[in-house]
Parts: sequence; C-alpha cells; structure tokens
Amino acid sequence: MTTQYKLALLPGDGIGPEVIESAVECLQKAAPLDDLEFSLTEYKVGGCALDAYKVPLRDGDLEEVKKADSVLLGAVGGPKWEGLDYAIRPERALLRLRAELELFANLRPATVFPETIDASALKREVVEGIDIMVLRELTGGIYFGTPKGVDTDPDGNRRGVNTMVYTEPEIERIARLAFEMARQRRGKVTSVDKANVLEVTELWRDIVTKLHKDEYSDVELNHMYVDNAAMQLIRNPRQFDVLVTGNLFGDILSDEAAMLTGSIGLLPSASLGKAKEGGGPRLGMYEPVHGSAPDIAGQDKANPIATVLSVAMMLRYSFGVSKSAEAIEKAVSKVLAEGYRTADIAEPGAKIVGTKEIGKALVDAI
Ligand code: IPM
Ligand code: MG
Repeated sequence: MTTQYKLALLPGDGIGPEVIESAVECLQKAAPLDDLEFSLTEYKVGGCALDAYKVPLRDGDLEEVKKADSVLLGAVGGPKWEGLDYAIRPERALLRLRAELELFANLRPATVFPETIDASALKREVVEGIDIMVLRELTGGIYFGTPKGVDTDPDGNRRGVNTMVYTEPEIERIARLAFEMARQRRGKVTSVDKANVLEVTELWRDIVTKLHKDEYSDVELNHMYVDNAAMQLIRNPRQFDVLVTGNLFGDILSDEAAMLTGSIGLLPSASLGKAKEGGGPRLGMYEPVHGSAPDIAGQDKANPIATVLSVAMMLRYSFGVSKSAEAIEKAVSKVLAEGYRTADIAEPGAKIVGTKEIGKALVDAI
C-alpha cells in the first residue's frame, strides 16, 4: 500500500529553485521504491517573498508549512536584499522557520567522495576516508539570546549587543542526540566549547560530561576548545566522528568541515525537531549546506547534488525508509564516477555539465 505524505517546498532565492527542481525529480523517481508518494506545495521564502509580499515569510505560509510532514528548502538571500533592516532580511525566514518548527538539531555530515577527493584543497592523505557528523544546536545560543540590538550608551557611543544563552534542557537534548548518533556510527563524540573563557560553555561542558557519565559511558567523549577544533579539523580531520557544538561555533565549523570534502556543492543537511511520540514522520527541514550563490543563479551552473542528498536524508530521518535513500546515494556515486562534474568542483580536466544535465543523469541512475 502506498503511503501519502505532504512535503512543503521552499525553493527560495538564487540557485535555490534550480537545485530544488532536480531534487524533486529524484524524489519522485525514488519514492515508489519504499511505496511512498509525495504531494508538494510550494511557498515563497526569503528575498522572493520580500519582493512579492514585503515580508520574508508570511504568517499564513508558516502555519501551512507547520502542517507538512517535511520541508525541503533551496537557499535564501542575495545582494539585492543585503541593505535591509535585520527584522525583514531574507535570512530571518530561515531563522524563524528553525525557531517556530523547533528544529533544534542541525546535522551536517562531511564525507569525502573517493571520486572527487582531488578537488579538496587539502592533501589526499589528510582527507581520505573522513566521515564527520557535525551536530549543531540550531535554536539557541547567541543567534536567539536577549538582550540584543544596537543602542546608544550614556556617553553617546553606539553599542552592539548579542547574548549567548543556553539552558540545561537545551544542552542536554542536543548532547543526548550526539551520543545516540555516535552509537550508530563509530562511537565517538567531540564536544566543542570555549569553556576556558565563556561561562555559558562551561555549563555546556558540565552537562555533556554528566550525561555521558550517567547514561552514555559506552561512547568515547572528548572536549575541545573551539579554536583548537578549527585547527584540528585541518590538521587531522579523521579523528572526528560526531562533533557536537552550539549554534555559532557550529555555523563556522560546519563550513570549515564542508570544505575538507572539496566542494560545498556536495553537502546536504537536516534540521530536526523532537521525534513524535508513538512514531510517525519526524518533522524536519532539509537543505543544501551551500547558499543561494547569486553569481551563478539562472545560468544552469549550480550543483544539485547537495540538495539531492538532502532528499536522501529526509527519506531516512523523517520517513524512516532506506531503499529510496540508498538508491539516491548510489546514483550520486555513479554519476560522479562517470565523470559528471559541475563548475564548483575544480578538478583539473573535469567534464563540466549544467544543472539540468547532471540532474537528468541522476534521475536516470535511480
Ligand atoms: C547556515 C547559514 C545561516 C546561519 C544564515 C544564512 C542565517 O549560514 O545555515 O549556516 O548562519 O545559520
Ligand atoms: Mg553558515
């Protein structure tokens, strides 16, 4: 029997709509392998929503998106909207979706494909075989803490403020997920903080340590200061299995981890909320790690693979199926092995094709 699910599609700006198109074609081809069928509804978010409705995300659209079983997003933002007030920037749509859908866990796997390893800026010996899961806390920390804003102090100087706040339950739930994921992987968690300077991350370290001792002592845990972690990712990335950290450090380190693999155009991500009691699909938002790349938008140059792999993550994490997800992942490996490349993968002598052509090759390979 076929199961029907509702998917909210948020193509967004720049290359977003182009990569979403390929990803949806792959989804529609793969879903029947697990007897799934998706009905899609599209909503405008980001700059395109600002142009159409003067807000980056309409309240009514947000309510509709909340009712979907899962969400697939392209990318938001671009130079056209950069000068605007923070409250209505395209990025606000993303932050609001994360907060309102309570997507506290952001999974950013950085794995290296043997086919594209020479596209990495690092030496093959350093990056060969890396398989890192960056787990970034996504709805707390300095991104959301108050007080925040720009005001004027009594001497008449302007003053900018953001606040890094984490509560015990916020830290515990992301740490718990890190340990659970490590048990399914290579059994190691590295928790990244700045506990030598920031009290908020001293609390982070205390709570992670206590949870480890009480419930997850079978998992290997080590703590690392964020500056050292930035260095270790380049020096010896194979030492990492699950890397768990707060919102801001995770934003930075996940971009760094992504570049180990050669191209940010290959990397998917999942943002997850709580699992539903009694089972059923777990609401998540899936998106490529890359941005809207306005410089190449509309030119059929974007790499759809990160979005296509995000669909595979969606099938696994939201819908708990693996045949369709595996078919997509295998298709990606096959197409890369056949030599298909988009312009973001700067290997010498690569055969560069457009978004549509590589998208079609992927669909054919599923
Ligand atoms: C990311 C992006 C976002 C973030 C921006 C676009 C708000 O950099 O998803 O990593 O900082 O979280
Ligand atoms: Mg980022």
